[in-house]
Amino acid sequence: MTYQRYTITAALPYANGGVHIGHLAGAYIPADIYVRYLRRRYGKEKVLFVCGSDEHGVPITLRAQKEGITPQELVDKYHHIMGSSFAQFGIDFDIYHRTSDPLHHETAAHFFKKMYDAGVLPEKESEQYYDTEQGRFLADRYIIGTCPRCANENAYGDQCEKCGSTLSPQDLIRPRSALSGSALTLRPTTHWYLPLDSYQQSWLNAWILEGEGRSEAWKNSVMGQCRSWLEQGLQPRAVTRDLEWGVALPIPHTEGKVLYVWFDAPIGYISASKAWAAQQAGRDWRPFWQSSDSKLVHFIGKDNIVFHCIIFPAMLRQMQDLGEPYILPVNIPANEFLNLEGEKISTSRNHAVWLDEYLQDFPQQQDALRYALTSIIPESKDSDFTWADFQLKVNSELVAILGNFVNRVLVLTHKFLEGKTPSAKEIEDNSELRTKILAAYRSNFEESNKNICNMIAGLENYRFREAQAEMMNLARGGNKFLADCEPWKIYKSDPEACAAVLSYALELTANIAVACEPFLPNTARRILEQLRLDISEACRQQFWEQGVLQNILPEFHTLNSPELLFRNIEDEEIKVQTDRLAARKAERVAAAPAAVVYAPLKESIAYDDFAKLDLRTATIVAAERIPKADKLLKLTLNVGFEERTVLSGIAEHFEPEAIIGRQVLLLANLAPRTMRGVVSNGMILMAEDAEGKLHFVAPPVAINNGATIS
Ligand code: 2FM
Ligand code: ZN
Repeated sequence: MTYQRYTITAALPYANGGVHIGHLAGAYIPADIYVRYLRRRYGKEKVLFVCGSDEHGVPITLRAQKEGITPQELVDKYHHIMGSSFAQFGIDFDIYHRTSDPLHHETAAHFFKKMYDAGVLPEKESEQYYDTEQGRFLADRYIIGTCPRCANENAYGDQCEKCGSTLSPQDLIRPRSALSGSALTLRPTTHWYLPLDSYQQSWLNAWILEGEGRSEAWKNSVMGQCRSWLEQGLQPRAVTRDLEWGVALPIPHTEGKVLYVWFDAPIGYISASKAWAAQQAGRDWRPFWQSSDSKLVHFIGKDNIVFHCIIFPAMLRQMQDLGEPYILPVNIPANEFLNLEGEKISTSRNHAVWLDEYLQDFPQQQDALRYALTSIIPESKDSDFTWADFQLKVNSELVAILGNFVNRVLVLTHKFLEGKTPSAKEIEDNSELRTKILAAYRSNFEESNKNICNMIAGLENYRFREAQAEMMNLARGGNKFLADCEPWKIYKSDPEACAAVLSYALELTANIAVACEPFLPNTARRILEQLRLDISEACRQQFWEQGVLQNILPEFHTLNSPELLFRNIEDEEIKVQTDRLAARKAERVAAAPAAVVYAPLKESIAYDDFAKLDLRTATIVAAERIPKADKLLKLTLNVGFEERTVLSGIAEHFEPEAIIGRQVLLLANLAPRTMRGVVSNGMILMAEDAEGKLHFVAPPVAINNGATIS
């Protein structure tokens, strides 16, 4: 199928933190490489690349609460930080929009209203978790509990970050409030539902499982997740929430309710496209979204699969049925996760390489990180970024292969040809030396074409690691060509042959500049600058369609002076990074609560032994210190039917005046004991926590004194 347009989206990141290498490798670098390739092959105006900040949902409100600012202040702060990090790393969106923008609210509300008015979103009352302490309904990440799949005690109401399962609050074992920590009650509330169950029967099964109406096969990992959802049977899914922050429902009497963030966020791709069109004279967003000859591709991480493969397509298809001809995605090449030095990247645990920190430590080295990350994009399984591997990739590939080839060609041209391209581009095989050179040239030409062909296949099929490796193979081949022909040795004996070798090497250098544009945009620009070369759109297009370009450089064209493209990364620089990660880990360990040491269980006793204890409720009516006894307090207890004196070893934990009025449990029939001349008539019960702090034990609400405990 030939497409006239390409609509490429990259997941809208939550505006609640910076951008780290996991973001880049998971979605934004692959999307950017693909877009840069498409623009060059099919024409810039045929491609629309949109992204923006996801500014709604619980991840935003929770973080705002943590930082003590409003959700709007939070998203304003991070939207700009994230947008500028992406720009610095050359992620070349046509627009980086945001979902708090009124245009987005209008677009998302329109989707809901259209479906609501058509009666396709059934309204249902259901029981939802309610936090009585906070006086509000809780949804999604506001609820924490134990994951039913992996027993992680801190799974969220929408997802377990440990095992990656998508959950709903009712799945959690022992759910509790993320706000107050308290247990939750269920209360009835009304929401509107997207009827996924009926879509599953009418078209989703066929579209996803049989590929009906789709022109591309999806990745195995993506199909695996979809299959598991479909096999479980889709349920109607609520598209509204009881929250204050989000897109207000466009229907009357629904104050306190907003659109579910996963309903509004993907519509963000469309509102971003509308905002882009509004900024570009004469451009229209509609063909990119509503024309069947446009190709829609979503770049995401694996945690977003269900939303992009099932829920958003269901919304788009529903809009189609209501007369707005939205297209469905052709592909969703979701990636797995990137780890860092063997551990999961985590914003909350600060285990990440943040882009702003990287740039401070490695200024101007954006392409080095792009290269290292592209080489480990988690395309088919989770992968691991290590600083040692970063150093190796930069030093032994970028510096030693690509940088080295380009630099040698430029230096040799300055040395032997006064920095100008020669006129003699062709030689005849009329000597042994020239025969050897021509053979090397033909073999390199063939090999380079193969590399380019494989690179294009990689790009077309979302295999970006392989595509980049083929780009590097061009430079590898260039080094081999120089080594085979040794122009530095033949300059004296056959300057014409030397000029022919350099002429070809310069052409290859220009081809490499074009080939590396999708992967290493700064490097491509710098190579072309050193060659003093402008490559036309048509030339580029020809390269991406046919392979090696010939005769790009004019005769007697003066080159700029050579400059090194990359520098070696030193061991000390790597140590700074690994030390920083280690220091953060040490901080986390120090801040983590000490492991609880449980006292061993005592021997079992018969019920009769327990029944011998006379436990009573009592209230402290007076408390005083005892001279020369640091640990003891003298307590006067009201036991209902009498008052008594009890000595208790709690003086180091409580001020006497602070505990008057506390209800306690008293072991009332403990034999009297005299300490410091005072007779103690019983013992109060205390609980000791993991940190050794004492707590009174008492009924949860005050009851009469003298009540028995059994
Ligand atoms: O997982 C996330 O970070 C979401 N904010 C992604 C949203 S993608 C799209 F639907 F907007
Ligand atoms: Zn889990």
